[in-house]
Amino acid sequence: MRKPPASNLQLRAILISTIKSNIGATLLLLLAVLVGAVINIWPSMVLRATIDGPLLAGTGNLWGYALLYLGAVVLIGVVDLLREYGATLLGQRLLLAVRSRMLSRLRALPMSYYLNVPAGETISRLTADVDAVNRLFSAGLVSAGADLLKIVGFLVALFVLSPPLGFVALASLPAVFLVTNYFRRNIYEKQLVVRRKVSDINTYIQETYAGMKLIKTYGKEDYFSERFEPTLESHRLAMNANSVYDAWFPCITQTVRAVVIATAIYLAAGQNFGPVALGLTLGTIAGAADLFIRLFEPIEAISSEIQTIQQALAGLNRISQFFDHETESGERFATASVWDGQNSEVRVEGVRFAYKDGEDVLLDASLEVPTGSKVAIAGRTGSGKTTLMNLIAGLYPVKNGTITVGGVDPYNLSPSDRRRLIGIVPQTVHIFNGSIYENITLRDASISVSQAEEAMRTVGLWDTVTELPSGMKTPLGEGGTKLSFGQSQLLSLARAVGTNPPLLLLDELTSGLDALTERTVLKAIRQVSAGRTIITISHRLSGIIDAETVHIMERGKIMESGSPEELARREGWYAIYKRLEDRGWQIS
Ligand SMILES: Nc1ncnc2c1ncn2[C@@H]1O[C@H](COP(=O)(O)OP(=O)(O)O)[C@@H](O)[C@H]1O
Ligand SMILES: [Mg+2]
Repeated sequence: MRKPPASNLQLRAILISTIKSNIGATLLLLLAVLVGAVINIWPSMVLRATIDGPLLAGTGNLWGYALLYLGAVVLIGVVDLLREYGATLLGQRLLLAVRSRMLSRLRALPMSYYLNVPAGETISRLTADVDAVNRLFSAGLVSAGADLLKIVGFLVALFVLSPPLGFVALASLPAVFLVTNYFRRNIYEKQLVVRRKVSDINTYIQETYAGMKLIKTYGKEDYFSERFEPTLESHRLAMNANSVYDAWFPCITQTVRAVVIATAIYLAAGQNFGPVALGLTLGTIAGAADLFIRLFEPIEAISSEIQTIQQALAGLNRISQFFDHETESGERFATASVWDGQNSEVRVEGVRFAYKDGEDVLLDASLEVPTGSKVAIAGRTGSGKTTLMNLIAGLYPVKNGTITVGGVDPYNLSPSDRRRLIGIVPQTVHIFNGSIYENITLRDASISVSQAEEAMRTVGLWDTVTELPSGMKTPLGEGGTKLSFGQSQLLSLARAVGTNPPLLLLDELTSGLDALTERTVLKAIRQVSAGRTIITISHRLSGIIDAETVHIMERGKIMESGSPEELARREGWYAIYKRLEDRGWQIS
Protein backbone atom coordinates (compact mmCIF):
# COMPACT_ATOMS: atom_id res chain seq x y z
CA MET A 1 0.00 0.00 0.00
CA ARG A 2 1.67 3.21 -1.15
CA LYS A 3 0.42 6.38 0.42
CA PRO A 4 2.43 9.26 -1.07
CA PRO A 5 0.37 12.03 0.53
CA ALA A 6 1.01 10.58 3.98
CA SER A 7 4.78 10.91 3.63
CA ASN A 8 4.48 14.49 2.37
CA LEU A 9 2.28 15.22 5.33
CA GLN A 10 4.99 13.77 7.54
CA LEU A 11 7.54 16.19 6.12
CA ARG A 12 5.15 19.09 6.38
CA ALA A 13 4.40 18.17 9.97
CA ILE A 14 8.13 18.16 10.72
CA LEU A 15 8.50 21.61 9.14
CA ILE A 16 5.54 23.06 11.02
CA SER A 17 6.62 21.67 14.37
CA THR A 18 10.17 22.93 13.82
CA ILE A 19 8.90 26.41 13.03
CA LYS A 20 6.53 26.34 16.00
CA SER A 21 9.23 25.39 18.44
CA ASN A 22 11.57 28.05 17.02
CA ILE A 23 9.13 30.88 16.62
CA GLY A 24 11.67 33.49 17.71
CA ALA A 25 14.20 32.50 15.03
CA THR A 26 11.43 32.36 12.43
CA LEU A 27 10.25 35.90 13.19
CA LEU A 28 13.83 37.17 13.20
CA LEU A 29 14.34 35.56 9.83
CA LEU A 30 11.21 37.09 8.29
CA LEU A 31 12.05 40.51 9.69
CA ALA A 32 15.61 40.31 8.34
CA VAL A 33 14.33 39.38 4.87
CA LEU A 34 11.86 42.30 4.80
CA VAL A 35 14.23 44.89 6.24
CA GLY A 36 17.01 43.67 3.94
CA ALA A 37 14.96 44.53 0.84
CA VAL A 38 14.49 48.12 1.99
CA ILE A 39 17.87 49.02 3.43
CA ASN A 40 19.85 47.64 0.49
CA ILE A 41 18.89 50.70 -1.55
CA TRP A 42 20.02 53.04 1.17
CA PRO A 43 23.76 53.36 0.33
CA SER A 44 22.94 54.33 -3.26
CA MET A 45 20.59 57.00 -2.03
CA VAL A 46 23.21 58.35 0.38
CA LEU A 47 25.72 58.40 -2.48
CA ARG A 48 23.34 60.42 -4.60
CA ALA A 49 22.65 62.90 -1.82
CA THR A 50 26.38 63.24 -1.11
CA ILE A 51 27.27 64.09 -4.69
CA ASP A 52 24.35 66.40 -5.33
CA GLY A 53 24.81 67.98 -1.90
CA PRO A 54 28.19 68.75 -0.35
CA LEU A 55 30.35 67.43 -3.19
CA LEU A 56 28.93 69.62 -5.96
CA ALA A 57 28.17 72.55 -3.68
CA GLY A 58 31.66 72.45 -2.25
CA THR A 59 30.32 73.01 1.26
CA GLY A 60 28.23 71.04 3.73
CA ASN A 61 28.53 68.21 6.16
CA LEU A 62 30.55 65.74 4.11
CA TRP A 63 31.55 63.75 7.19
CA GLY A 64 27.94 63.34 8.14
CA TYR A 65 27.17 61.81 4.74
CA ALA A 66 30.23 59.62 4.90
CA LEU A 67 29.16 58.28 8.27
CA LEU A 68 25.63 57.77 6.99
CA TYR A 69 27.00 55.71 4.09
CA LEU A 70 29.17 53.67 6.41
CA GLY A 71 26.22 53.16 8.77
CA ALA A 72 24.04 51.93 5.89
CA VAL A 73 26.65 49.42 4.76
CA VAL A 74 27.17 48.17 8.31
CA LEU A 75 23.44 47.84 8.83
CA ILE A 76 23.10 45.79 5.65
CA GLY A 77 25.85 43.51 6.94
CA VAL A 78 24.10 43.10 10.28
CA VAL A 79 20.75 42.34 8.67
CA ASP A 80 22.40 39.77 6.35
CA LEU A 81 24.08 38.20 9.35
CA LEU A 82 20.79 37.94 11.25
CA ARG A 83 19.12 36.39 8.22
CA GLU A 84 21.89 33.84 7.79
CA TYR A 85 21.80 33.10 11.51
CA GLY A 86 18.05 32.54 11.55
CA ALA A 87 18.09 30.46 8.38
CA THR A 88 20.98 28.28 9.54
CA LEU A 89 19.47 27.76 12.96
CA LEU A 90 16.10 26.75 11.57
CA GLY A 91 17.70 24.73 8.77
CA GLN A 92 19.83 22.72 11.18
CA ARG A 93 16.91 22.11 13.54
CA LEU A 94 14.88 20.96 10.57
CA LEU A 95 17.71 18.71 9.45
CA LEU A 96 17.96 17.16 12.90
CA ALA A 97 14.21 16.61 13.06
CA VAL A 98 14.05 14.96 9.62
CA ARG A 99 17.09 12.82 10.31
CA SER A 100 15.90 11.54 13.67
CA ARG A 101 12.49 10.80 12.20
CA MET A 102 14.25 8.82 9.45
CA LEU A 103 16.39 6.96 11.96
CA SER A 104 13.43 5.90 14.03
CA ARG A 105 11.79 4.85 10.80
CA LEU A 106 14.85 2.86 9.80
CA ARG A 107 14.74 0.63 12.85
CA ALA A 108 11.13 -0.19 12.17
CA LEU A 109 11.73 -1.32 8.59
CA PRO A 110 11.36 -5.02 7.88
CA MET A 111 14.22 -7.33 6.95
CA SER A 112 13.03 -7.26 3.34
CA TYR A 113 13.96 -3.56 3.14
CA TYR A 114 17.54 -4.35 4.09
CA LEU A 115 17.68 -7.17 1.55
CA ASN A 116 16.32 -5.13 -1.31
CA VAL A 117 17.67 -1.62 -0.78
CA PRO A 118 21.45 -1.28 -1.16
CA ALA A 119 23.23 0.25 1.82
CA GLY A 120 24.58 3.10 -0.32
CA GLU A 121 21.05 4.23 -1.13
CA THR A 122 20.05 4.41 2.52
CA ILE A 123 23.26 6.28 3.28
CA SER A 124 22.50 8.91 0.62
CA ARG A 125 18.97 9.30 1.95
CA LEU A 126 20.26 10.02 5.43
CA THR A 127 23.18 12.23 4.42
CA ALA A 128 23.02 14.01 1.05
CA ASP A 129 19.25 14.12 0.79
CA VAL A 130 18.72 15.36 4.33
CA ASP A 131 21.36 18.01 3.72
CA ALA A 132 19.38 18.94 0.64
CA VAL A 133 16.36 19.64 2.82
CA ASN A 134 18.44 21.96 4.94
CA ARG A 135 19.75 23.70 1.83
CA LEU A 136 16.27 23.89 0.33
CA PHE A 137 15.28 25.84 3.37
CA SER A 138 18.31 28.04 4.10
CA ALA A 139 20.19 28.46 0.82
CA GLY A 140 17.15 27.90 -1.35
CA LEU A 141 13.81 29.29 -0.25
CA VAL A 142 14.97 31.86 2.29
CA SER A 143 17.76 33.28 0.12
CA ALA A 144 15.63 33.24 -3.02
CA GLY A 145 12.87 35.07 -1.15
CA ALA A 146 15.33 37.62 0.22
CA ASP A 147 16.93 38.15 -3.19
CA LEU A 148 13.59 38.50 -4.93
CA LEU A 149 12.56 41.20 -2.46
CA LYS A 150 15.91 42.93 -2.94
CA ILE A 151 15.39 43.01 -6.71
CA VAL A 152 11.95 44.51 -6.21
CA GLY A 153 13.46 47.11 -3.86
CA PHE A 154 16.17 48.09 -6.37
CA LEU A 155 13.70 48.30 -9.24
CA VAL A 156 11.34 50.49 -7.25
CA ALA A 157 14.24 52.75 -6.28
CA LEU A 158 15.37 53.03 -9.92
CA PHE A 159 11.86 53.82 -11.10
CA VAL A 160 11.63 56.51 -8.45
CA LEU A 161 14.95 58.02 -9.54
CA SER A 162 14.03 57.90 -13.21
CA PRO A 163 11.34 55.80 -14.85
CA PRO A 164 13.37 55.28 -18.07
CA LEU A 165 16.25 53.86 -16.05
CA GLY A 166 13.74 51.65 -14.28
CA PHE A 167 12.72 50.28 -17.65
CA VAL A 168 16.34 49.67 -18.65
CA ALA A 169 16.82 47.71 -15.42
CA LEU A 170 13.63 45.75 -15.99
CA ALA A 171 14.69 44.93 -19.54
CA SER A 172 18.16 43.81 -18.44
CA LEU A 173 16.74 41.35 -15.89
CA PRO A 174 15.98 38.47 -18.27
CA ALA A 175 19.28 38.93 -20.15
CA VAL A 176 21.41 38.77 -17.01
CA PHE A 177 19.33 35.92 -15.64
CA LEU A 178 19.51 33.83 -18.80
CA VAL A 179 23.26 34.26 -19.24
CA THR A 180 23.93 33.38 -15.62
CA ASN A 181 21.56 30.47 -15.77
CA TYR A 182 23.22 29.07 -18.86
CA PHE A 183 26.60 28.99 -17.15
CA ARG A 184 25.32 27.71 -13.83
CA ARG A 185 23.47 24.86 -15.45
CA ASN A 186 26.48 23.78 -17.47
CA ILE A 187 28.84 24.11 -14.52
CA TYR A 188 26.48 22.03 -12.43
CA GLU A 189 26.22 19.32 -15.06
CA LYS A 190 29.98 19.14 -15.43
CA GLN A 191 30.37 19.05 -11.67
CA LEU A 192 28.04 16.05 -11.51
CA VAL A 193 30.33 14.26 -13.93
CA VAL A 194 33.36 15.21 -11.83
CA ARG A 195 31.64 13.91 -8.70
CA ARG A 196 30.84 10.64 -10.42
CA LYS A 197 34.46 10.30 -11.44
CA VAL A 198 35.62 11.00 -7.88
CA SER A 199 33.25 8.34 -6.65
CA ASP A 200 34.72 5.95 -9.24
CA ILE A 201 38.16 6.67 -7.83
CA ASN A 202 36.90 6.02 -4.31
CA THR A 203 35.26 2.78 -5.32
CA TYR A 204 38.41 1.74 -7.05
CA ILE A 205 40.57 2.37 -4.01
CA GLN A 206 38.13 0.60 -1.74
CA GLU A 207 38.06 -2.38 -4.03
CA THR A 208 41.83 -2.42 -4.16
CA TYR A 209 42.00 -2.34 -0.39
CA ALA A 210 39.49 -5.13 -0.02
CA GLY A 211 41.24 -7.30 -2.56
CA MET A 212 44.84 -6.43 -1.70
CA LYS A 213 45.58 -9.86 -0.26
CA LEU A 214 44.49 -11.47 -3.48
CA ILE A 215 46.23 -8.86 -5.65
CA LYS A 216 49.50 -9.43 -3.82
CA THR A 217 49.31 -13.19 -3.81
CA TYR A 218 48.64 -13.25 -7.53
CA GLY A 219 51.15 -10.46 -8.23
CA LYS A 220 48.52 -8.35 -9.98
CA GLU A 221 49.73 -4.93 -8.79
CA ASP A 222 50.60 -3.72 -12.30
CA TYR A 223 47.33 -4.82 -13.75
CA PHE A 224 45.45 -2.96 -11.04
CA SER A 225 47.35 0.27 -11.47
CA GLU A 226 46.93 0.10 -15.25
CA ARG A 227 43.22 -0.38 -14.83
CA PHE A 228 43.18 2.71 -12.65
CA GLU A 229 44.62 5.00 -15.32
CA PRO A 230 41.51 5.37 -17.51
CA THR A 231 39.56 6.37 -14.41
CA LEU A 232 42.06 9.09 -13.58
CA GLU A 233 42.13 10.28 -17.19
CA SER A 234 38.37 10.58 -17.40
CA HIS A 235 38.44 12.51 -14.13
CA ARG A 236 40.92 14.95 -15.68
CA LEU A 237 38.74 15.39 -18.76
CA ALA A 238 35.69 16.05 -16.64
CA MET A 239 37.61 18.61 -14.60
CA ASN A 240 38.72 20.34 -17.81
CA ALA A 241 35.21 20.59 -19.15
CA ASN A 242 34.12 22.06 -15.85
CA SER A 243 36.99 24.57 -15.81
CA VAL A 244 36.12 25.95 -19.25
CA TYR A 245 32.70 27.09 -18.07
CA ASP A 246 34.15 28.16 -14.74
CA ALA A 247 36.67 30.40 -16.46
CA TRP A 248 34.27 31.99 -18.95
CA PHE A 249 31.51 32.59 -16.45
CA PRO A 250 32.79 35.71 -14.61
CA CYS A 251 34.17 37.21 -17.81
CA ILE A 252 30.86 37.01 -19.67
CA THR A 253 28.70 38.15 -16.78
CA GLN A 254 30.99 41.12 -16.07
CA THR A 255 30.70 42.15 -19.70
CA VAL A 256 26.92 41.93 -19.65
CA ARG A 257 26.87 44.04 -16.48
CA ALA A 258 29.19 46.61 -18.04
CA VAL A 259 27.08 46.89 -21.19
CA VAL A 260 23.91 47.46 -19.16
CA ILE A 261 25.52 50.04 -16.89
CA ALA A 262 27.16 51.85 -19.80
CA THR A 263 23.82 52.05 -21.59
CA ALA A 264 22.16 53.41 -18.48
CA ILE A 265 24.84 56.04 -17.92
CA TYR A 266 24.85 57.09 -21.56
CA LEU A 267 21.09 57.54 -21.47
CA ALA A 268 21.18 59.39 -18.20
CA ALA A 269 23.95 61.82 -19.07
CA GLY A 270 22.91 65.26 -20.21
CA GLN A 271 25.67 65.51 -22.82
CA ASN A 272 24.67 62.77 -25.22
CA PHE A 273 22.87 65.49 -27.18
CA GLY A 274 20.37 62.89 -28.32
CA PRO A 275 16.63 63.06 -27.99
CA VAL A 276 16.75 60.46 -25.23
CA ALA A 277 19.01 62.40 -22.91
CA LEU A 278 17.47 62.27 -19.50
CA GLY A 279 19.53 65.10 -18.11
CA LEU A 280 19.77 63.64 -14.64
CA THR A 281 21.91 65.17 -11.93
CA LEU A 282 25.36 63.77 -11.34
CA GLY A 283 24.31 62.39 -7.97
CA THR A 284 21.33 60.60 -9.48
CA ILE A 285 23.50 59.04 -12.17
CA ALA A 286 26.02 57.84 -9.61
CA GLY A 287 23.26 56.54 -7.34
CA ALA A 288 21.58 54.77 -10.25
CA ALA A 289 24.86 53.19 -11.36
CA ASP A 290 25.37 51.95 -7.82
CA LEU A 291 21.85 50.52 -7.78
CA PHE A 292 22.50 48.73 -11.07
CA ILE A 293 25.65 47.15 -9.70
CA ARG A 294 23.79 45.99 -6.60
CA LEU A 295 20.87 44.76 -8.66
CA PHE A 296 22.96 42.19 -10.54
CA GLU A 297 24.03 40.37 -7.41
CA PRO A 298 20.63 39.03 -6.40
CA ILE A 299 19.73 38.25 -10.02
CA GLU A 300 22.82 36.11 -10.42
CA ALA A 301 22.29 34.56 -7.01
CA ILE A 302 18.71 33.60 -7.79
CA SER A 303 19.83 31.46 -10.67
CA SER A 304 21.95 29.34 -8.34
CA GLU A 305 19.20 29.32 -5.72
CA ILE A 306 16.75 27.96 -8.25
CA GLN A 307 19.22 25.20 -8.97
CA THR A 308 19.58 24.49 -5.26
CA ILE A 309 15.82 24.35 -4.92
CA GLN A 310 15.51 21.92 -7.83
CA GLN A 311 18.15 19.58 -6.46
CA ALA A 312 16.72 19.82 -2.99
CA LEU A 313 13.23 19.02 -4.24
CA ALA A 314 14.62 15.87 -5.83
CA GLY A 315 16.19 14.99 -2.46
CA LEU A 316 12.93 15.77 -0.71
CA ASN A 317 11.14 13.50 -3.11
CA ARG A 318 13.51 10.68 -2.35
CA ILE A 319 13.05 11.21 1.37
CA SER A 320 9.32 11.08 0.87
CA GLN A 321 9.76 7.78 -0.91
CA PHE A 322 11.81 6.57 2.02
CA PHE A 323 8.90 7.38 4.32
CA ASP A 324 6.68 5.37 1.99
CA HIS A 325 8.45 2.13 2.83
CA GLU A 326 6.09 0.22 4.99
CA THR A 327 7.32 -0.32 8.52
CA GLU A 328 6.61 -3.48 10.38
CA SER A 329 6.56 -2.43 14.00
CA GLY A 330 2.99 -1.18 13.86
CA GLU A 331 1.37 -4.44 12.85
CA ARG A 332 4.19 -6.47 14.26
CA PHE A 333 4.38 -5.44 17.86
CA ALA A 334 0.92 -3.97 18.35
CA THR A 335 -0.24 -7.54 18.69
CA ALA A 336 2.98 -8.73 20.33
CA SER A 337 2.58 -12.33 21.36
CA VAL A 338 3.41 -13.21 24.91
CA TRP A 339 5.57 -16.19 25.52
CA ASP A 340 4.78 -18.29 28.60
CA GLY A 341 8.47 -18.52 29.56
CA GLN A 342 8.58 -22.34 29.46
CA ASN A 343 7.53 -23.80 26.15
CA SER A 344 10.27 -24.00 23.53
CA GLU A 345 8.59 -26.29 21.05
CA VAL A 346 8.95 -25.43 17.36
CA ARG A 347 6.19 -26.21 14.86
CA VAL A 348 6.46 -25.57 11.16
CA GLU A 349 3.43 -26.43 9.07
CA GLY A 350 3.19 -26.28 5.30
CA VAL A 351 5.37 -23.19 4.99
CA ARG A 352 5.95 -21.72 1.59
CA PHE A 353 8.32 -18.79 1.36
CA ALA A 354 10.00 -16.63 -1.27
CA TYR A 355 12.39 -13.70 -0.92
CA LYS A 356 11.23 -12.48 -4.31
CA ASP A 357 7.75 -13.10 -5.63
CA GLY A 358 7.57 -16.17 -7.81
CA GLU A 359 10.90 -17.61 -6.69
CA ASP A 360 9.88 -19.99 -3.94
CA VAL A 361 12.75 -21.04 -1.72
CA LEU A 362 10.66 -23.11 0.67
CA LEU A 363 7.95 -25.12 -1.02
CA ASP A 364 6.18 -27.04 1.66
CA ALA A 365 8.24 -27.27 4.79
CA SER A 366 6.82 -29.03 7.83
CA LEU A 367 8.65 -29.87 11.00
CA GLU A 368 7.95 -30.57 14.62
CA VAL A 369 10.48 -30.12 17.37
CA PRO A 370 9.14 -30.94 20.84
CA THR A 371 10.45 -29.03 23.85
CA GLY A 372 13.82 -30.39 24.95
CA SER A 373 14.54 -32.41 21.82
CA LYS A 374 17.63 -32.22 19.62
CA VAL A 375 16.94 -32.03 15.95
CA ALA A 376 19.20 -31.67 12.94
CA ILE A 377 18.36 -30.37 9.49
CA ALA A 378 20.77 -31.55 6.84
CA GLY A 379 20.79 -30.93 3.15
CA ARG A 380 22.80 -29.58 0.32
CA THR A 381 23.88 -25.98 0.05
CA GLY A 382 21.03 -23.86 -1.28
CA SER A 383 18.28 -26.25 -0.19
CA GLY A 384 16.73 -23.61 2.08
CA LYS A 385 18.01 -24.56 5.53
CA THR A 386 19.14 -21.08 6.52
CA THR A 387 15.92 -19.64 5.18
CA LEU A 388 13.88 -22.00 7.35
CA MET A 389 15.95 -21.03 10.35
CA ASN A 390 15.47 -17.32 9.69
CA LEU A 391 11.73 -17.91 9.65
CA ILE A 392 11.89 -19.83 12.93
CA ALA A 393 13.87 -16.94 14.39
CA GLY A 394 11.10 -14.56 13.31
CA LEU A 395 13.11 -12.54 10.84
CA TYR A 396 10.42 -12.56 8.18
CA PRO A 397 6.66 -12.85 8.34
CA VAL A 398 5.21 -16.10 7.03
CA LYS A 399 2.35 -15.68 4.60
CA ASN A 400 1.70 -19.29 3.61
CA GLY A 401 1.62 -21.90 6.34
CA THR A 402 2.28 -21.40 10.02
CA ILE A 403 5.25 -21.33 12.34
CA THR A 404 5.01 -21.31 16.09
CA VAL A 405 7.88 -21.18 18.51
CA GLY A 406 7.10 -21.70 22.17
CA GLY A 407 3.44 -21.61 21.15
CA VAL A 408 3.58 -18.17 19.52
CA ASP A 409 4.31 -16.71 16.10
CA PRO A 410 8.01 -15.79 16.29
CA TYR A 411 7.52 -12.80 13.98
CA ASN A 412 5.15 -11.19 16.47
CA LEU A 413 7.24 -11.98 19.50
CA SER A 414 8.31 -8.90 21.41
CA PRO A 415 12.06 -8.25 21.08
CA SER A 416 12.79 -9.01 24.75
CA ASP A 417 10.81 -12.27 24.71
CA ARG A 418 12.55 -13.26 21.52
CA ARG A 419 15.96 -12.72 23.06
CA ARG A 420 14.96 -14.78 26.12
CA LEU A 421 13.41 -17.59 24.08
CA ILE A 422 15.70 -17.98 21.08
CA GLY A 423 19.48 -18.14 20.93
CA ILE A 424 20.73 -18.06 17.38
CA VAL A 425 24.16 -18.67 15.90
CA PRO A 426 23.87 -17.56 12.29
CA GLN A 427 25.85 -19.04 9.46
CA THR A 428 27.89 -15.87 9.06
CA VAL A 429 29.29 -14.43 12.24
CA HIS A 430 29.06 -10.71 12.69
CA ILE A 431 31.33 -8.88 15.10
CA PHE A 432 30.21 -5.37 16.02
CA ASN A 433 32.56 -2.51 16.86
CA GLY A 434 32.71 -2.69 20.64
CA SER A 435 34.23 -4.66 23.49
CA ILE A 436 34.01 -8.42 23.79
CA TYR A 437 31.55 -7.92 26.62
CA GLU A 438 29.32 -5.70 24.49
CA ASN A 439 29.56 -8.16 21.63
CA ILE A 440 28.14 -10.83 23.88
CA THR A 441 25.42 -8.82 25.58
CA LEU A 442 24.62 -6.67 22.52
CA ARG A 443 24.23 -3.92 25.14
CA ASP A 444 21.45 -5.77 26.89
CA ALA A 445 21.82 -4.37 30.40
CA SER A 446 20.02 -7.36 31.89
CA ILE A 447 23.01 -9.59 31.11
CA SER A 448 25.49 -9.14 33.93
CA VAL A 449 29.26 -9.35 33.64
CA SER A 450 29.23 -12.67 35.47
CA GLN A 451 26.58 -14.03 33.10
CA ALA A 452 28.71 -13.01 30.13
CA GLU A 453 31.72 -14.65 31.76
CA GLU A 454 29.67 -17.78 32.38
CA ALA A 455 28.62 -17.84 28.71
CA MET A 456 32.23 -17.57 27.61
CA ARG A 457 33.31 -20.30 30.01
CA THR A 458 30.55 -22.52 28.69
CA VAL A 459 31.69 -22.22 25.11
CA GLY A 460 35.36 -22.55 26.04
CA LEU A 461 36.33 -19.02 25.09
CA TRP A 462 37.20 -17.80 28.56
CA ASP A 463 40.87 -18.78 28.51
CA THR A 464 41.38 -16.92 25.24
CA VAL A 465 39.71 -13.83 26.64
CA THR A 466 41.69 -13.75 29.86
CA GLU A 467 44.91 -13.85 27.84
CA LEU A 468 43.97 -10.61 26.09
CA PRO A 469 45.41 -7.47 27.72
CA SER A 470 42.04 -5.88 28.49
CA GLY A 471 40.10 -9.11 28.98
CA MET A 472 36.39 -8.68 28.36
CA LYS A 473 36.91 -4.98 27.66
CA THR A 474 39.14 -5.72 24.65
CA PRO A 475 37.75 -3.81 21.69
CA LEU A 476 36.74 -5.82 18.64
CA GLY A 477 35.84 -4.76 15.14
CA GLU A 478 37.41 -1.99 13.12
CA GLY A 479 40.79 -1.08 14.56
CA GLY A 480 40.32 -3.55 17.41
CA THR A 481 41.61 -7.02 18.11
CA LYS A 482 40.90 -9.52 15.38
CA LEU A 483 39.58 -12.87 16.46
CA SER A 484 40.19 -15.95 14.39
CA PHE A 485 37.24 -17.42 12.52
CA GLY A 486 36.80 -20.20 15.09
CA GLN A 487 37.06 -17.75 17.99
CA SER A 488 34.46 -15.54 16.34
CA GLN A 489 32.16 -18.51 16.03
CA LEU A 490 32.62 -19.31 19.71
CA LEU A 491 31.85 -15.70 20.53
CA SER A 492 28.72 -15.95 18.45
CA LEU A 493 27.75 -19.06 20.41
CA ALA A 494 28.45 -17.28 23.70
CA ARG A 495 26.21 -14.46 22.50
CA ALA A 496 23.47 -16.97 21.81
CA VAL A 497 23.65 -18.65 25.22
CA GLY A 498 24.18 -15.36 27.07
CA THR A 499 20.51 -15.01 27.96
CA ASN A 500 20.21 -18.71 28.74
CA PRO A 501 17.49 -19.32 26.14
CA PRO A 502 15.65 -22.66 26.06
CA LEU A 503 15.83 -22.84 22.25
CA LEU A 504 19.10 -22.79 20.32
CA LEU A 505 19.34 -22.48 16.54
CA LEU A 506 22.77 -23.34 15.21
CA ASP A 507 23.49 -22.79 11.54
CA GLU A 508 26.56 -24.58 10.15
CA LEU A 509 28.27 -24.08 13.46
CA THR A 510 31.20 -26.37 12.83
CA SER A 511 31.54 -26.13 9.08
CA GLY A 512 34.46 -23.72 9.08
CA LEU A 513 36.39 -25.18 11.98
CA ASP A 514 39.41 -27.41 12.32
CA ALA A 515 39.02 -30.75 14.04
CA LEU A 516 40.39 -29.52 17.35
CA THR A 517 38.24 -26.42 17.51
CA GLU A 518 35.30 -28.45 16.30
CA ARG A 519 35.79 -30.68 19.30
CA THR A 520 35.84 -27.66 21.61
CA VAL A 521 32.64 -26.42 20.05
CA LEU A 522 30.96 -29.81 20.22
CA LYS A 523 31.93 -30.01 23.86
CA ALA A 524 30.50 -26.54 24.33
CA ILE A 525 27.28 -27.52 22.64
CA ARG A 526 26.93 -30.60 24.81
CA GLN A 527 27.57 -28.39 27.82
CA VAL A 528 24.73 -26.12 26.92
CA SER A 529 22.38 -28.65 25.40
CA ALA A 530 21.02 -30.24 28.56
CA GLY A 531 17.38 -29.32 28.95
CA ARG A 532 17.32 -27.22 25.82
CA THR A 533 15.62 -27.56 22.49
CA ILE A 534 18.29 -27.50 19.81
CA ILE A 535 18.05 -27.29 16.05
CA THR A 536 21.36 -27.68 14.26
CA ILE A 537 21.75 -27.11 10.58
CA SER A 538 24.51 -28.62 8.54
CA HIS A 539 25.31 -29.40 4.95
CA ARG A 540 27.31 -32.40 6.15
CA LEU A 541 25.97 -35.32 8.09
CA SER A 542 29.15 -35.28 10.15
CA GLY A 543 28.20 -31.82 11.35
CA ILE A 544 25.08 -33.18 12.96
CA ILE A 545 25.50 -33.06 16.68
CA ASP A 546 23.86 -35.66 18.90
CA ALA A 547 20.60 -35.37 17.02
CA GLU A 548 17.65 -37.53 18.04
CA THR A 549 15.89 -36.73 14.81
CA VAL A 550 17.34 -35.79 11.46
CA HIS A 551 15.39 -34.02 8.72
CA ILE A 552 16.81 -34.12 5.25
CA MET A 553 16.00 -31.04 3.27
CA GLU A 554 16.12 -30.84 -0.50
CA ARG A 555 14.88 -27.99 -2.68
CA GLY A 556 12.74 -26.34 -0.05
CA LYS A 557 11.12 -29.51 1.22
CA ILE A 558 11.75 -31.93 4.06
CA MET A 559 12.27 -35.16 2.16
CA GLU A 560 12.98 -37.54 4.95
CA SER A 561 12.81 -37.59 8.76
CA GLY A 562 13.80 -40.03 11.44
CA SER A 563 16.49 -41.00 13.89
CA PRO A 564 19.96 -41.33 12.35
CA GLU A 565 19.85 -45.10 12.85
CA GLU A 566 16.47 -45.41 11.21
CA LEU A 567 17.52 -43.29 8.26
CA ALA A 568 20.77 -45.16 7.84
CA ARG A 569 18.84 -48.41 7.53
CA ARG A 570 16.42 -46.97 5.02
CA GLU A 571 17.66 -46.69 1.43
CA GLY A 572 16.95 -42.98 1.10
CA TRP A 573 18.62 -39.56 0.94
CA TYR A 574 20.35 -39.97 4.26
CA ALA A 575 21.87 -43.29 3.29
CA ILE A 576 23.08 -41.87 -0.03
CA TYR A 577 24.58 -38.79 1.63
CA LYS A 578 26.22 -40.94 4.25
CA ARG A 579 27.83 -43.21 1.70
CA LEU A 580 29.02 -40.27 -0.37
CA GLU A 581 30.44 -38.56 2.65
CA ASP A 582 32.22 -41.63 3.87
CA ARG A 583 33.90 -41.85 0.50
CA GLY A 584 34.86 -38.17 0.65
CA TRP A 585 32.09 -37.25 -1.84
CA GLN A 586 33.75 -39.21 -4.61
CA ILE A 587 31.17 -40.12 -7.17
CA SER A 588 32.44 -43.09 -9.04
N1 LIG B 1 18.39 -12.81 0.92
C1 LIG B 1 18.08 -13.58 -0.10
N2 LIG B 1 17.44 -13.07 -1.18
C2 LIG B 1 17.10 -13.84 -2.21
N3 LIG B 1 17.36 -15.14 -2.28
C3 LIG B 1 17.99 -15.72 -1.26
C4 LIG B 1 18.38 -14.97 -0.11
N4 LIG B 1 18.99 -15.80 0.76
C5 LIG B 1 18.98 -17.01 0.18
N5 LIG B 1 18.38 -16.98 -1.02
C6 LIG B 1 18.17 -18.11 -1.95
O1 LIG B 1 17.42 -19.07 -1.26
C7 LIG B 1 17.90 -20.37 -1.54
C8 LIG B 1 18.17 -21.09 -0.23
O2 LIG B 1 19.20 -20.44 0.45
P1 LIG B 1 19.59 -20.83 1.93
O3 LIG B 1 18.36 -20.88 2.75
O4 LIG B 1 20.67 -19.93 2.38
O5 LIG B 1 20.15 -22.30 1.71
P2 LIG B 1 21.09 -23.19 2.62
O6 LIG B 1 21.20 -22.55 3.96
O7 LIG B 1 20.40 -24.50 2.65
O8 LIG B 1 22.40 -23.27 1.93
C9 LIG B 1 19.13 -20.22 -2.41
O9 LIG B 1 18.74 -20.54 -3.72
C10 LIG B 1 19.49 -18.77 -2.30
O10 LIG B 1 19.96 -18.29 -3.50
MG1 LIG C 1 22.82 -21.96 4.91
